[in-house]
Amino acid sequence: MKLFLDSANIREIREAASWGAIDGVTTNPSLVAKEGREFFPLLKEICEIVDGPISMETVSQQADGMVKEGLSFAKLHKNIIVKCPLTKEGLKATRQLSRQKIRVNVTLCFSATQALLAAKAGAYFISPFVGRLDDISSDGMALIRDIKTIYSNYGFTTQILVASVRHPLHVVEAAKIGADIATMPFSVLEALIKHPLTDSGLARFLKDWDQLPAQVKAMPGAAALKPRSSRTRSSR
Ligand code: E4P
Repeated sequence: MKLFLDSANIREIREAASWGAIDGVTTNPSLVAKEGREFFPLLKEICEIVDGPISMETVSQQADGMVKEGLSFAKLHKNIIVKCPLTKEGLKATRQLSRQKIRVNVTLCFSATQALLAAKAGAYFISPFVGRLDDISSDGMALIRDIKTIYSNYGFTTQILVASVRHPLHVVEAAKIGADIATMPFSVLEALIKHPLTDSGLARFLKDWDQLPAQVKAMPGAAALKPRSSRTRSSR
């Protein structure tokens, strides 16, 4: 399973990349707007940090405009994936771009029928928004299960990119269903690492270590940590 970071923030992207945790990045107009930076230089910088799919969203309402924007994004870097919304115009643009071998992430997917149409239009990724469905008392993960079944029934190669992830359980559920990718904000990615037993276990190890005499701790190499009396003649 691949994990993407859902962010346009360079500090977060650098930090997550340093953990070896992310395979790609997704952005949307709201995330880009938060950064208050010129769009193309920001996009280029993200592509230099992460060597994996980087999704950038078109903002035109009409297919022609989306295609134009998509082509200009794709020229910037080989890893760019063009995001188009799940509208009639977005599907038209997806069809046109995919025929030109441009990879498209069809976004704002909230139903199985939408996911089916995106796959037929040639989407490379489909982005169902689980968190926003949960927010309105629908079952976001049920949609992932439905899409998974439909795509495998008919052999669609469109990859399921679980989006609008709000907490670690969304990631676990997505992995159990067999979704291809989950994209999440930095806070959720960080939460995947944390466990209170890891923290308390480490604190205990360090406390025990601290109680060793300074002379023992200062010795380099594992053999040197054994008391002198227990070393064999050959190891001296
Ligand atoms: C990713 O591609 C989406 O834009 C993102 O996951 C949306 O998340 P949100 O519902 O938390 O804004």
